[in-house]
Amino acid sequence: MHSELPQGLIEALRAARHVAVLTGAGVSAESGLPTFREAQTGLWARYKPEELATPQAFRRNPRLVWEWYAWRRKLVVMAEPNPAHRALAELERLAPRVTLITQNVDGLHARAGSADPIELHGSLSRARCFAECAIYDEWEEAGDIPPRCPRCGAPLRPDVVWFGENLPRELLARAFAVATECDLFLSIGTSGLVEPAASLPRVALARGTTTAVINLDVAGRSAPPLFELNGRAGELLPALFEAAFGPR
Ligand code: OAD
Repeated sequence: MHSELPQGLIEALRAARHVAVLTGAGVSAESGLPTFREAQTGLWARYKPEELATPQAFRRNPRLVWEWYAWRRKLVVMAEPNPAHRALAELERLAPRVTLITQNVDGLHARAGSADPIELHGSLSRARCFAECAIYDEWEEAGDIPPRCPRCGAPLRPDVVWFGENLPRELLARAFAVATECDLFLSIGTSGLVEPAASLPRVALARGTTTAVINLDVAGRSAPPLFELNGRAGELLPALFEAAFGPR
């Protein structure tokens, strides 16, 4: 067993009736997908976010933005869920109730078997009409870049949340309700810098809920969690769940 796993967290997991989990790009790092803010390897190290992930950027250069997301989609198709994704899917069979909230747009939680992740920032697997918001799971790649909406001819954009855009209202309401109701909140592989997702663990903490951060760098959080586990999600999560629920 990992010597650094806190006994209090193990007991909180065993006792929890509703575990909320918020994940970020760090959970997919071990699948080989670049995160957003890590120097050298972060996605933003190669491109400026305001040049790529805003509606203004898309208006200015739709082809560049579409191709950047197409590149990310290709990375995701080649990637496989890692032990962190699999452990979180397994947690749904171990704890009475688990709600997984993710900022990731890569779909790896669902591919690992998580039942109904709340994808706060959308999904790379969908496109949306830039003019009228119709959503598509499939589109024609062979012609224009970006492809055109089959209904109105406007360009398609990825169905993800860009800087300056609102998160889907219904999903956000569900996420805040979960942060309010849960009795254990785990933040995993997220820098906790992007609102409103960053507020979710603070909502839980303010209500006296047990919270934990599991991340490669846990220092410098504005609201300190009760438990901080410094390390790779793909190693810590399987160890933590085994310590709480026994070997699989
Ligand atoms: P970040 O790139 O900001 O943070 C990823 C965090 O994961 C960092 O704190 C890393 O130290 C940590 N990390 C890296 N590898 C890890 C591992 N193997 N195990 C555990 N932790 C690890 O990504 P997010 O917090 O997801 O939004 O970024 C939030 C949002 O910012 C994204 O969803 C995106 C971006 O703007 C939109 O695109 C709307």
